[in-house]
Amino acid sequence: MTIVTIPLFPFLLLIAIAAAVCFRCCDANSNVNVVCIESEREALLKLKNDLTDPSNRLSSWVEGGDCCEWNGVVCHNLTGHVNQLHLAAPPFSAFDEWRLLGGRVNPSLLQLKHLNSLDLSNNNFSSIQIPDFFGLLGSLTYLNLSLAQFQGAIPHNLGNLPKLHYLDLRGWDPRDMEAKSLEWVSGLSSLQYLDLSGVDLHEATDWLQVTFNLPCLLELHLSYCNLKGPIPDYLGNKSFLEVVDLSSNSLNSSIPNSLYSLNHLQFLSLGYNHFEGEISSALGNLSSLIHLDLSVNSLEGRLPTSLEHLCNLKELDLSSNQIDGDISEILQSLSSCSLDCLESLNMENNQLSGHLTDQLGQFKNLVHLSLAGNTISGQIPLSIGELSSLEVFDVSENQLNGTFPPTLGQLGNLETLNIGQNVLEGVVSETYFSNLTRLTQLMASGNMLTFQPNPSWVPPFQCETIELGQWHLGPKFPRWLRFQRNLSDLNISHAGISDVLPTWFLNLSTHFEYVDLSSNDLTGGISYLNVTTFLDLSSNRFTGPLPRLLPTLLGLVLSNNSFSGSLVEFVCNSSESRNMWILDISTNLLFGEIPDCWSHWQGLGILNLGNNKLTGKIPSSLGYTNPVELNLRNNSMFGEIPSTLQNCSRLLILDLSENHFSGSVPAWMGEKLSSLVVLRLRSNKFDGHIPHKICALQYLQNLDLAHNNISGAIPKCFSNFSAMATKNKTFYYLRGWFFDGKSFQPSALLELKGREDEYSSTLGLVTSLDLSANHLTGQIPKELGTLTGLRSLNLSRNLLTGNIPDNIGNMEPMESLDLSMNKLHGGIPSSFSNLNFLNHFNVSYNNLTGQIPTSTQLQSFENSSYMPNHLRGPPVSKNCITKGVPTDGGGSEESNGRSKVKGLYVSIVVGFVMGFWGVVAPLFFIRVWRHAYFQKLDHVGRKLYVFWATMGR
Ligand SMILES: *[C@@H]1O[C@H](CO)[C@@H](O)[C@H](O)[C@H]1NC(C)=O
Ligand SMILES: *[C@@H]1O[C@H](CO)[C@@H](O)[C@H](O)[C@H]1NC(C)=O
Ligand SMILES: *[C@@H]1O[C@H](CO)[C@@H](O)[C@H](O)[C@H]1NC(C)=O
Ligand SMILES: *[C@@H]1O[C@H](CO)[C@@H](O)[C@H](O)[C@H]1NC(C)=O
Ligand SMILES: *[C@@H]1O[C@H](CO)[C@@H](O)[C@H](O)[C@H]1NC(C)=O
Repeated sequence: MTIVTIPLFPFLLLIAIAAAVCFRCCDANSNVNVVCIESEREALLKLKNDLTDPSNRLSSWVEGGDCCEWNGVVCHNLTGHVNQLHLAAPPFSAFDEWRLLGGRVNPSLLQLKHLNSLDLSNNNFSSIQIPDFFGLLGSLTYLNLSLAQFQGAIPHNLGNLPKLHYLDLRGWDPRDMEAKSLEWVSGLSSLQYLDLSGVDLHEATDWLQVTFNLPCLLELHLSYCNLKGPIPDYLGNKSFLEVVDLSSNSLNSSIPNSLYSLNHLQFLSLGYNHFEGEISSALGNLSSLIHLDLSVNSLEGRLPTSLEHLCNLKELDLSSNQIDGDISEILQSLSSCSLDCLESLNMENNQLSGHLTDQLGQFKNLVHLSLAGNTISGQIPLSIGELSSLEVFDVSENQLNGTFPPTLGQLGNLETLNIGQNVLEGVVSETYFSNLTRLTQLMASGNMLTFQPNPSWVPPFQCETIELGQWHLGPKFPRWLRFQRNLSDLNISHAGISDVLPTWFLNLSTHFEYVDLSSNDLTGGISYLNVTTFLDLSSNRFTGPLPRLLPTLLGLVLSNNSFSGSLVEFVCNSSESRNMWILDISTNLLFGEIPDCWSHWQGLGILNLGNNKLTGKIPSSLGYTNPVELNLRNNSMFGEIPSTLQNCSRLLILDLSENHFSGSVPAWMGEKLSSLVVLRLRSNKFDGHIPHKICALQYLQNLDLAHNNISGAIPKCFSNFSAMATKNKTFYYLRGWFFDGKSFQPSALLELKGREDEYSSTLGLVTSLDLSANHLTGQIPKELGTLTGLRSLNLSRNLLTGNIPDNIGNMEPMESLDLSMNKLHGGIPSSFSNLNFLNHFNVSYNNLTGQIPTSTQLQSFENSSYMPNHLRGPPVSKNCITKGVPTDGGGSEESNGRSKVKGLYVSIVVGFVMGFWGVVAPLFFIRVWRHAYFQKLDHVGRKLYVFWATMGR
């Protein structure tokens, strides 16, 4: 099983830091009237000789030249000795390999006896370690090898540089460089600045003791170093540290008081660790703090009121913890002395409650305010209009009610407005926007707001993102969108728009990355849409052939429309490789065969063509797409399952139900499709026996072979379906795709309790086995009774004989059990009285005899669940008259209706509540992600991430 985690964040953060630090000294020739020293020139030429320099940055370094004039060389203005070498590559050039220096560093460098500053940062020395002899450059005061991709262990003799003030060895990834101990650092007695971020220090258990005892150290950066364990409560009081960055490690324990005693601290970042417990009131000792970042930890409880002593605080980031308390009390503490300094307050993703009071208007210098993802209620105060510096206002995902505050319209500096997912209602007037000329992000989906501006309204802003899902924007398509020239993300789903999709929209010259027009009542055909990344047109009434689309598209959801015609053009038209991850054209009117051109669709994760009118066989090239979900249900396809599907080793969900497929159930599924969680072959023409090899599917939770012509016995080895055997569902997969905050999870339609429902986020909790309406013979194997995690078992309408095994009564979570219309005899085992969750039960049309066991559940079913048999006792009525012959399906399919339940399934029994939160928790992370990555890194240009969460024990 693949487990993909997501260590991207620190990496990306480093880019941001790099950008801030590295605009220096790239061209530093300010030498006046000095000529370089012969021996030093020779040394530099040797150095050049061993370096690779594809972009010729060292072209000025030539034989016989004045080396003091060379690019990157600085000589002493009187003696002519080379004393600085600035060979850094420009920041961000790691992606432009050709601009980087690389190769080896020649020891001739040691000839530069007066070298005090050496900068090789941002280059590519990925073939070597940091050379040992750097420890002999005894004049060095400044050494910057950051992001230069050196590999392996850091040489200890770097500790022999007693004059060094500044040491930056920051790396991209802790897999590149390591230090098993930091003892050598204690030799750097003049060190003021130390950055070992991105170096693996997990074995360097002395890191704290060494760094906190450096007598001159002012700045310590150890972010993303794999540091583990607690920080002790006593660190000595020698430290004059001003900057401490320990973010993105695995430090646990509560935040120790020792950190609160560093009373010179101006910058403290402990973000992205596992710190827990409450924040001590000793925080108030850090009265010099300007920047405090404790984001993404497990801190809880209320904030200490000593917050009021942090009078210099400019930035406070406590996002993504479990801090509770009343937001108005926190604002009260902050207003006592940092009121005028505070520029950025981020407390998103906590458990804050209470109301926002008018006090908010006093934080006049606030530039960034995020309180998203809490449970703050009440109205957005009108005083918000007084925050005239505000650029980012994010209160999304709270319980704010009332109307859209008109005073928001005074915030002329506002760039990002996110009020999405609240319960605001009422009418928004276009005049509210008249001063928001700088707005670029307008995110407000999930409110009940109405916005129907005058048809001639021209917005004063040029937005990149407009998210107004669930607003009432219709019935006409919003005309004002045509003036948005920079629009890249648009969500106007569920907006009551009942119109023809206007042609001007299709021809907008904006660069669309993400468009969601789903769940409106849009009509018309679409010949071409220029969207680069993600397009959702589902649940409208679009007609005509499938649109032509850009090959860069990663997600396309066209389900639930009336697109018709063949897939040939769409799938086969280009031979370029396609990167698409999600292709969902289910529930349309597609016809013809699925073309055999899938060999360049290799990124496909979800392919759903279910519920169309497709015919023909499964094309063999489909096997090479290797999706996670393949759904062809409810078409008119036929033939055998092609053996190329053996390549689909990632499949979690395979649904081929309701077609005319034939042949036997392939035995290779057990071996090759070993990740399967859902296998549905229902309502086809499969015959033969159930192959024993499929018992190897250890993750299988839902197997549906109902309504086929399968014969033979139920294999005893079904007891190997271990995912059906565990009662506590702590072990299941949940893998989803998140496109810029919108989540997609594999979903499956499952037949439980005689009813089909769509399961998505709760899919991991559902377990079912349905072999009904086949020709299965023999006894019910008692081994089935070991599948004690099963919630639904349907063996009805077969030719099963013998007794009902006793241990079926051990399958405690069972909610639905149907054994009707077989030839079972004997009694209903008394163990059945243990089935306390049963709400669908049928043993009718067998030859059962004896007393019906008594339990809270068994007596609650209708007579028809038991008749005709020879059973006695309640609920079978005394006169024992059987009712009429059942209609097709008898009790087992009493309601054929499909109810589509998106997201949560309503009937989760108490016992599963725990597991349920396990499923929802990863969704919560979407926010963390979005904010951590997108806000800091929009310029990196990636708005789209794949998130794989694998839940394990
Ligand atoms: C030489 O450099 C020193 C410090 O680096 C500076 O103080 C001095 O003014 C410079 N002299 C000349 C002639 O540029
Ligand atoms: C907002 O919700 C609160 C309860 O949380 C309620 O008392 C109040 O009346 C609501 N306000 C409006 C304007 O709906
Ligand atoms: C826009 O700014 C002007 C001038 O500051 C002000 O008079 C007006 O009320 C503002 N409009 C809104 C909607 O706040
Ligand atoms: C898609 O839109 C972009 C941005 O407007 C434009 O540069 C590009 O040429 C368009 N592509 C096509 C195929 O129309
Ligand atoms: C149930 O969960 C507990 C704790 O998560 C675990 O120790 C135990 O092994 C699990 N039991 C089964 C049958 O999976």
